[in-house]
Amino acid sequence: MTDAHWPMELTCPVCDAPLTAGPGVLRCAAGHSFDIARQGYVNLLPPNARIGTADTPEMVASRDVFLASGHYRPIAERVAELVALAAGERPGIIVESGAGNGEYLAAVLERMTTRLGIAFDISKHACRRAAGAHERMRAVVCDAWGRLPLRDGSAAAVMSIFAPRNPVEFARVLAGGGALVVVTPTAEHLGSLVRGLGLVRVDPRKDERLEAQLSPRFGCVSSEHIERRLTLSRAEAFAAVAMGPSARHHPFERSQEAFGAVPESLEALLSVRISVWRTLL
Ligand SMILES: C[S@@+](CC[C@H](N)C(=O)[O-])C[C@H]1O[C@@H](n2cnc3c(N)ncnc32)[C@H](O)[C@@H]1O
Ligand SMILES: [Zn+2]
Repeated sequence: MTDAHWPMELTCPVCDAPLTAGPGVLRCAAGHSFDIARQGYVNLLPPNARIGTADTPEMVASRDVFLASGHYRPIAERVAELVALAAGERPGIIVESGAGNGEYLAAVLERMTTRLGIAFDISKHACRRAAGAHERMRAVVCDAWGRLPLRDGSAAAVMSIFAPRNPVEFARVLAGGGALVVVTPTAEHLGSLVRGLGLVRVDPRKDERLEAQLSPRFGCVSSEHIERRLTLSRAEAFAAVAMGPSARHHPFERSQEAFGAVPESLEALLSVRISVWRTLL
């Protein structure tokens, strides 16, 4: 990766001016500067930012293990198809907000061979991984609940996969008519694990909440359900739990102990909804 390959679309989190890349640093005309970490990501979070929802190193490592199993590959493949279709010829970068390890954005960039991608995540541990996930991907630590460090209308598509959504900011950074691709779990997703291990449940009214959250700024273009029966090894089941929301409520070591009693292999259902939205305003 060279410094020149940082996208021109990034903006300064202090004064909102464009950031340009120099050796090992991004800086704005007012002199605010942000080091490019050795691992290749940039931290644009203010020093006092609250990062309580950031994935921990254990969650990031578990996500690596689980995604390497390939069980979620059908999601990545379909997301890549839908983002490429939805972005079409519209110019702009591809953004994933709450990108985690960058697996899904990497699949999109593999398909869209000339685009640059930006992975935003509030976890620097996740951004370390995402920075190395694809040569055309750059990773930026920032808070998706706040202002995204991107120019207005600079993205051809925004992706939000199992991650927090900020419709106002997504609409602002999308070019007119740009597409938002969202993946949400259904109430049945990994149901056997959720019931068997007392994990955090998905709200059965999640679809309605998504519609209510996005509808002032986005219109739904398509929505499809992906379902697969999975056979997980004990280690994969543990990784699925340890990378998800339940990991915050069950300390890693205690979960590891509890998993000693789990069978060598488990049946589980992958059940997610992928929806495509377009800006209305
Ligand atoms: C369940 S993970 C999903 C990661 C990735 N999209 C995937 O599906 O593999 C949610 C991600 O959102 C990030 N996150 C949580 N709160 C955030 C915020 N306020 N701003 C940006 N990222 C956030 C977490 O650090 C985590 O990496
Ligand atoms: Zn500045």
